[in-house]
Amino acid sequence: MTNLSRRDALGSIALGVAATAAAPVEAVAQTGPAAMAPAFSGGHKPKPLGFDPTKLTGISEKLIRSHWENNYQGSVKALNMVEGRLGAAMADRDLPPVIYGDLKREELHRTGSVILHELYFEQLGGNGQAVGAIRDALARSHGSFEAWEAEFRRTAMALAGGSGWCILAYNHYTKSLHNYWAWDHTNGPITGVPLLVLDMYEHAFAIDYGAAAAKYVDAFMHNIDWAVVNARFGAAIAT
Ligand SMILES: [Fe+2]
Repeated sequence: MTNLSRRDALGSIALGVAATAAAPVEAVAQTGPAAMAPAFSGGHKPKPLGFDPTKLTGISEKLIRSHWENNYQGSVKALNMVEGRLGAAMADRDLPPVIYGDLKREELHRTGSVILHELYFEQLGGNGQAVGAIRDALARSHGSFEAWEAEFRRTAMALAGGSGWCILAYNHYTKSLHNYWAWDHTNGPITGVPLLVLDMYEHAFAIDYGAAAAKYVDAFMHNIDWAVVNARFGAAIAT
C-alpha cells in the first residue's frame, strides 16, 4: 500500500476505478473504448471464506479474519484501483513510461496477491489428510509422500524471517511436480499451476505465533483440505 500511496501523491493520473467502471457513454466517447475494456474493468470482488474460521486447528479466527480483511481484501481493492488507472492512462499519451511502469508493476504484484490468497483460503478447512491421485503422484515424484512433505516444509522454512510463498505446482512444461520458493507475489514458477500454496509473509502467522514460523507451518499442514488440492491437480494434468 505504501507504493500506491506514493503514486497517489504523484497526482499524474486523476481517474479512479469507480469513474472507470461506471463511465457513461459520454465519458467513453471522451476517453476511448479502452477505458471500458475488461482488462481495465477493476471489477474484482473479494471471495468469502469457504470454511468456518472458528473451526481451524491451531489457527485462530482473529488471524484468519485479519488476513482476509486486511491483506487479501486490501489487495483486491488495490488491484481494482490500479486497473482503473491503467484504463484512464490509455487516453493519456503523455504519461511518462516510468510512471506507467509503476502501474504495470503494481498490476502484476496485486494480481499475484489476489490469486494466491484466494487459493490459500480455498484450500483450508480440511483435516490435513492427503487423499487421491495427488498423494500417489507426490509419492512418485519425491520418493515418498513423507519425503515430499519434508521438502515442502523445508522450502517454506527457507522463507521464514523474510516473506513469500511456498508453492507446490504442476509444471506444464516439464510435466512434473515441484515445491517452488517464491519470494513475493510475482515470483511464481514459469508454466507452473499452483496446487498448494503456503503464505510465508509474517502477516499470515504473527498474530498467533509471533516469529515462530515452524509452528505456523505445522498448523497449516493440519488444516489442508486435500480434496481441493487433488481437484486442482486433476484439472492441471487434464489441460
Ligand atoms: Fe497473506
